[in-house]
Amino acid sequence: MENAAPQDAARALLAFWRAAGVDMDDAEAVFAARAAAPPARSAAPTAPAREPFQIQPPAPKAKPKAKLQPADDAVNTARALAAGASTIAELRAAVDKFNGCALKATARNTVFSDGIDAAPVLILGEAPGKDEDEQGKPFVGRSGQMLDKMLATIGLDRKSNVLISNTIYWRPPGNRDPTDGETLSCLPFVERLIELSRPKLLILTGKAAAHTVLKREDGVLKLRGRKLQYTREGIKAPVNAMVMLHPAYLLRQPQQKRLAWADLLLAEAWLEELGVARGAHP
Ligand code: URA
Repeated sequence: MENAAPQDAARALLAFWRAAGVDMDDAEAVFAARAAAPPARSAAPTAPAREPFQIQPPAPKAKPKAKLQPADDAVNTARALAAGASTIAELRAAVDKFNGCALKATARNTVFSDGIDAAPVLILGEAPGKDEDEQGKPFVGRSGQMLDKMLATIGLDRKSNVLISNTIYWRPPGNRDPTDGETLSCLPFVERLIELSRPKLLILTGKAAAHTVLKREDGVLKLRGRKLQYTREGIKAPVNAMVMLHPAYLLRQPQQKRLAWADLLLAEAWLEELGVARGAHP
């Protein structure tokens, strides 16, 4: 039963998004190949599937609104799996075996994290794109390269002092926005990651990550550039948090880089104050 429900949900979602005019890219081919012969999933990236594009028979008339919400049991399963993880490695394995997010059925790989598990800085983005889906690592495409350059200016990098993850672990077809349901089904893992990594500084890149984690609806331009605190019921202590403009937004709006620079300077000053060791930088 655990496998049938996500497949049905994924099929209905694909039909819904196709009907809504979303560019489905290769999501349908990945889903069709996986439905025909479900491969064993592992944390390691798998080779891209090369099966020909197939159109699924039309899905039964969907009730899109209902389908976009995660089943309660998906959220409960996510909560139980997340709570059962006592290290980040265990959390990664828990995310890998979770089948309650429909996006998994159309993704090539689970994209959990990159960097150092014990890093003092945790960076969260929104969702994997095409490059991330192919490589099984967050922020490895153009916006990832931009993020790496930005971090380097203040002595941060994923090989020494940063852990990078997302609020969604599977690529939404055609890079559409994740639905509320998809976001909610991943949220218990995101919250557990923050709890387990206990970063000195949590950096949320972009509106989606800021809204999901901080549970605030303010615009990103209002949230950025401020020293914030992340807290929630049951957490041992509040976590220092900042919101930054998403690197993909900066690629589209390069004139906003001056705001990103101001955010980086704030992060640098805050890390200095917190006594976080950083590498040499220009
Ligand atoms: N954008 C994100 O928010 N996350 C990624 O991993 C890549 C691009």
